[in-house]
Amino acid sequence: MLPRCAFSVCHVFVLVLCLSSAEDFDWTKNGHSSFHYGTFPAGFSWGAGSSAYQTEGAWDKDGKGLSIWDVFSHKKGKIQRNDTGDSSCEGYHKIKDDVSLMKELKLNHYRFSISWPRLIPTGIKSDHINEKGIQYYDELINHLLESKITPVVTLYHWDLPQVLQEKYGGWQNISMVNHFNEFASLCFERFGNRVKYWMTFNNPWSVAVEGYETGEHAPGLRLKGTGAYRAAHHIIKAHAKVWHTYDTQWRGKQKGLVGISLSGDWGEPVDISNQKDIEAAERYVQFFLGWFATPIFHGDYPQVMKDFVGRKSVQQGHGTSRLPSFSPQEKSYIKGTCDFLGIGHFTTRYITQKNHPSARSGGSYFTDRDLAELVDPRWPDPGSEWLYSVPWGFRRLLNFVKSQYGNPMIYVTENGVSEKMLCTELCDDWRIQYFKDYINEMLKAIKDGVNVKGYTAWSLLDKFEWDEGYSERFGLYYVDFRNKNKPRYPKASVQFYKRVISSNGFPNQREVENWRRKAVETCSSSNQLLAAARRKSKEHAEMPKVWPMHDEV
Ligand code: NOJ
Repeated sequence: MLPRCAFSVCHVFVLVLCLSSAEDFDWTKNGHSSFHYGTFPAGFSWGAGSSAYQTEGAWDKDGKGLSIWDVFSHKKGKIQRNDTGDSSCEGYHKIKDDVSLMKELKLNHYRFSISWPRLIPTGIKSDHINEKGIQYYDELINHLLESKITPVVTLYHWDLPQVLQEKYGGWQNISMVNHFNEFASLCFERFGNRVKYWMTFNNPWSVAVEGYETGEHAPGLRLKGTGAYRAAHHIIKAHAKVWHTYDTQWRGKQKGLVGISLSGDWGEPVDISNQKDIEAAERYVQFFLGWFATPIFHGDYPQVMKDFVGRKSVQQGHGTSRLPSFSPQEKSYIKGTCDFLGIGHFTTRYITQKNHPSARSGGSYFTDRDLAELVDPRWPDPGSEWLYSVPWGFRRLLNFVKSQYGNPMIYVTENGVSEKMLCTELCDDWRIQYFKDYINEMLKAIKDGVNVKGYTAWSLLDKFEWDEGYSERFGLYYVDFRNKNKPRYPKASVQFYKRVISSNGFPNQREVENWRRKAVETCSSSNQLLAAARRKSKEHAEMPKVWPMHDEV
């Protein structure tokens, strides 16, 4: 999630932290070591998630149009090992199998996204609607409902139709607002009788910053200092328009809710007695979550973003701020367009003040913030380079949402951890630990009065992890990508999460420790199954023209 340029900053500071300041900070001061046994409020919704491009595969099947991710991943050198989402988990062909995995977990909800170019191949509704694409989502939704699993649907999880990128420049262009609204209206019309939870966008921070500023994600543009702000501006307007469309045209009959899923790392001041660090940490969160949440809840960008980007833009010789502004009409149109807030959260950073002189840096989203990110070398980092396990940051972020945005209804839309490259270990004890601690911090936040209604473990399956390809596995279920049939195998965390769900929390220490022990015991048999299947598929692969034909689970 964090771009590589931010890693290098982090790494430099990890060293500094190790060398000079270990004893300057009392790491236990945050009071986060105790575990809270107890249960969640009745009706709390437990789920798992996925997204279309990351899991469906079938990139060119049944009339689907190209998305910017199809095109981007087919360019050499953009994705680890040149992986693509062409077939991914083959989710498009495995609705029944995957719904049975959800039933096994006893999920209350499943979060997935609809691929815009699968429904509208060019992105422009008046061109053509692909009925086969509609049928696929119809089938998925119906299977979920038959299994008493609530569908929670994201309209945009990054797969913009390629035609819209080529013709208009994608999210750099205001015309996306109307095209997206037409796509959303089609979804409300066709699926809204059964889908009651909608999210307009998933993690627009990544779309804006990684798609249009650093270019690490599709469409791969590097419009430093302006691209991310312009993309975000149009996304916020598109979100508001879709919310109003639902509110005025569909809510009456369909009685659903429309929110947005925002991601946010927590930023903790390095030195809590230093005012400059406190302000820098506040800026970190405001430039991350606040960038999108503040317009949606309060009608405008965070003051600190307007101040910092505005001042730097002037110093750099721009006539106006690189951060666009909303007109008074737009502010009141955007304010309050959120029936619930989706929060995707994975990790935390320590933050310290660091000036980035305007003239020298030339201006970018990252330097506009005037801060540096640090990590504690003692934080566990079981998977992705950027993902340190810091559970207490989750509680702080949730409390921040409560206090900044008037205690809105929150659904946690993503939370989870990956594992190191090429790891084939199903006994994922570290993931159990991560879920246990993060879910517990969420429970503490609810006790603090934060209005969290549901939690979505990220992710149901291992899947295509964007520019990291298949090298980072977030799944509760392992997917054998080397086998053409993409069989799924339960990791130990499936057993653990299942118990959390059936107990609606953590009843007592003895039981929770028991779950964990049992989960790790049972996974060794899954490990053996996987190893046997791999041996078998290797033998098959060595014989010419023979592929394994059936799942071996
Ligand atoms: C957030 C993105 O929404 C999701 O697609 C991705 O898998 C996770 N971050 C993990 O990087």
